[in-house]
Amino acid sequence: MDRIRIVGGNELAGTIPISGAKNAALPLMIASLLTDDTLTLENVPHLADVEQLIRILGNHGVDYSVNGRREKQQEGYSRTINFSARNIVDTTAPYELVSKMRASFWVIGPLLARMGEAKVSLPGGCAIGTRPVDLFLEGLQVLGAELDVDTGYVVAKTKNGRLVGNRYVFPKVSVGATHVLMMAASLAKGETVLENAAREPEIVNLAECLNAMGAKIHGAGTPTITIQGVEALSGARVRVIPDRIETGTYAMAVAMTGGDVVLEGARPDLLQSALDIIVETGAEITPTNEGIRVKRNGAGISPVDVTTAPFPAFPTDLQAQFMGLMTMANGKSRITETIFENRFMHVQELARLGAHITLSGQTAIVDGVAKLKGAPVMATDLRASVSLVIAGLAAEGETTVNRVYHLDRGFERLEEKLSGCGAVIERISG
Ligand code: EPZ
Repeated sequence: MDRIRIVGGNELAGTIPISGAKNAALPLMIASLLTDDTLTLENVPHLADVEQLIRILGNHGVDYSVNGRREKQQEGYSRTINFSARNIVDTTAPYELVSKMRASFWVIGPLLARMGEAKVSLPGGCAIGTRPVDLFLEGLQVLGAELDVDTGYVVAKTKNGRLVGNRYVFPKVSVGATHVLMMAASLAKGETVLENAAREPEIVNLAECLNAMGAKIHGAGTPTITIQGVEALSGARVRVIPDRIETGTYAMAVAMTGGDVVLEGARPDLLQSALDIIVETGAEITPTNEGIRVKRNGAGISPVDVTTAPFPAFPTDLQAQFMGLMTMANGKSRITETIFENRFMHVQELARLGAHITLSGQTAIVDGVAKLKGAPVMATDLRASVSLVIAGLAAEGETTVNRVYHLDRGFERLEEKLSGCGAVIERISG
């Protein structure tokens, strides 16, 4: 199994290109199921989760081709990909595929809306929490779906071949359920109003994509989304937004090691709350024509308290990385996780590097130390793994991060991007 070896202590300096967002690319790819035309997506990151979703969509009959301009589309770089769901050959998403990636459950929305039926495996548990799918099921029922849960599968059908628009108030904000209901309602009969919808930039990217395909969606990015259903959707060409979590991760790495890095292609408006917090820790952040410049010279790291919450607040997907940063702050900080109940796996591993963290319910109290020391570590999810990478960059000596496949799910060319800025980091195979 591959490992990442880091020798910490270097400041980061240079330019890091920001890739297309994993969490935007996945729903856009799933939207290709809604039309028999070609959906062309630009800036699709080259990640294990994207490859896995290509396999899952292929199982339903979606063809794909990586197009054009070969020289710009080297192996491992973001690409333009055409998806064509001309013939849906299977409306079942089997356990073997769905259990590997939770977001593949989201195919239930477009399959049901276009084909009138879907049989999708329940995703099961995952490392960061129980993550139920009750809101998806309740919302689809409100749109007229008939649902049955049988032997681990959700079996869904429409009553008269088509979903019917309605009003649904999410009892809790859910990114995935908002994506799914927006896709399903696009092909429903009549108007759907979604209240207390998620406002994440990835929701806006999906709404733009669906509108480019002929949908009639207003209000994406606000808590109320209105969708006038249409009979059919067409193809479109849409660009995946830059990855705000990758952006925040590298910004925190620089805030931790010190240095001066331009995050090329990053959009500050996609993570303003996180950038504001990073500034409070003592780093300088300047929006530039290229993206975002992050600098920290000399000054120590100030402790800052953070609570995760749905967008536009501080994202749960940056909580582990921020905890990494706070392990070397000049004092105590409190980090509260409100989205997932079990997202503190990195705490014990950061402790192996010398961090002082105590847990009290959903809050981690981090008592900053002057130095971390390298050690072998591992993690069981993507963001926890990358928090260990950034802590390793700032630690003295050698850190090895095991189970690199977690990082490959969500960080494109991580070692290359960091070593390009002076980090000593390499992948060791086997
Ligand atoms: C998306 O997951 C992201 N995944 C996650 O990123 C991210 O952490 C999360 O949103 C929150 O921002 C993708 O976009 C592919 P939710 P999602 O539905 O949609 C509860 C990463 O590291 N809930 O907004 O699955 C749920 O358990 C990943 O890239 C229900 O109770 O998250 C959680 O507590 C990890 N019932 C809360 O809502 C439901 O039916 C928010 O989850 C659905 C969700």
